[in-house]
Amino acid sequence: KLYKIAVLPGDGIGPEVTKEAVKVLNKLSEIDSRFYFETKEFNWNSEYYLQHRRMMPENGLEQLKKFDAILFGAIGDPRVPDPVSIWELILPIRKQFQQYVNLRPIKLLRGLENPLKQEVPVDFVIIRENSEGEYINSGGLMFEGEKREMAVHNTVMTRQGIRNIAEFAYEYARENGLSKLTNATKSNVMSYTMTFWDQVVEEVAAQNKNIAYEKYYIDALAAYFVQRPESFHIVLASNLFGDILSDLGSAIVGGLGIAPSGNINPKGTFPSMFEPVHGSAPNIAGKGIANPMAQIWSAALMLDHLGRKDLHDAILRSIEEVLMEKKVLTPDIGGNASTVEVGNAIISKLKME
Ligand code: NAI
Ligand code: MG
Repeated sequence: KLYKIAVLPGDGIGPEVTKEAVKVLNKLSEIDSRFYFETKEFNWNSEYYLQHRRMMPENGLEQLKKFDAILFGAIGDPRVPDPVSIWELILPIRKQFQQYVNLRPIKLLRGLENPLKQEVPVDFVIIRENSEGEYINSGGLMFEGEKREMAVHNTVMTRQGIRNIAEFAYEYARENGLSKLTNATKSNVMSYTMTFWDQVVEEVAAQNKNIAYEKYYIDALAAYFVQRPESFHIVLASNLFGDILSDLGSAIVGGLGIAPSGNINPKGTFPSMFEPVHGSAPNIAGKGIANPMAQIWSAALMLDHLGRKDLHDAILRSIEEVLMEKKVLTPDIGGNASTVEVGNAIISKLKME
C-alpha cells in the first residue's frame, strides 16, 4: 500500500522539525521494502495568511481529504493574531475531519531523566475528548450599560460523544495490552455534565470488565501524576481536563521538545492529523536548535495509526538510543547539537528488527 501523507510544516520551528521527520520517513522506506509513501507539502501558514488573508484556500479541506494522514508542524506567528491561526486552520481540520480523539503518550524515554528525579518507569497515554465538552465555544454575556456583569460558558456532553471516546479508549487498551483505565472526573461538583460523563463511561466500562476501571477527581489525579506517575496505563479525560493533564504529563517526561500527539478519526472516514504538542517557538525559530524529537515521534504515532506499529517502534528505539548516548542533543535537553544533527543521529540508528 502506498500511503499518501499531507505535510503542513506551518510557521517558526515547524518547518525545521518537519523536515527532519520527513527525512526519517524516507530512511524507513529505504530500509523497509514494504513501506511506500508519498508526501505533498502545503504551505498554509502565517505567510500565506499575510498574502491571502486566509489560512488556507477555500477548498483546503477538500484537498486534504484525499490523504491517508496529515503531518502538521506548528502554527503561530507574532504578525498574525493567535486566534486566527488556530480557528482558521487547526480547529477546522479537527472538526471537519471528526478527529474526536486527542492521543498523547506520556512516556519517559530511556536516556531521559524524570525532572522529579523519581526512579520509576512512566508509560501511559492520555486519551482526551477532542470535539465537544467544555470547548464548544458557546455561551453568553450580560451587560449593564457598557459594562460586563456576567458571563456564561456552556459545556455540552453528548451520549454519542462520550461513548465514542470511551470506546476508543478501551479499544486502544485492548490493542496495546493495557490493563487499567483511569477516568478523570469532577462529578462531585459538576453534577450535570460530569455525572453524565461518568455514567456513560461506566456503561462502556461494564462491557470491558477484563480491563480494570478506576475514577479520580481531576484535582487529586493531578497530584497523583506527580506522586505516582508509574501507576497509570490509560487516562480518559474530557476536552478541558485532558488539555490540562496532558501538559502536566509532558512536563513529567522531558518537556515540549519531546511530546507528540495525534488528533485521530478512529472510523477512518477522514484523515487523522499528527503534530508535536509544542508551538512555533518564535524565540528560537531560525536558529536551527529546535528539538525535532517531538515531531519525529508524532510521525511515529502516524505510522502506528496507519497500521505500522513496527515502524513506530523502530523510530522510538532510535530516539532512545540517541538519548542514551547523550552525545547529540539539542539545548532544551542539555546538549549543544542542532536540529539537523539530531535528525541525522536518529536516522543513523534506524533499523528494523
Ligand atoms: P511554544 O511551544 O512555541 O514554546 C514554548 C517554549 O518551549 C519556548 O521557550 C520554546 O522555545 C520552547 N520549545 C517549544 N518547542 C521546542 C522544541 N521543539 N525544541 C526546543 N524548545 C522548544 O509555545 P508558545 O511560545 O506559547 O507559543 C508560540 C506560538 O506557537 C504562538 O503563536 C502559539 O499560538 C503557537 N502554538 C501553536 C500550537 C500548534 O500549532 N498546535 C500549539 C501551541 C502554541
Ligand atoms: Mg494545551
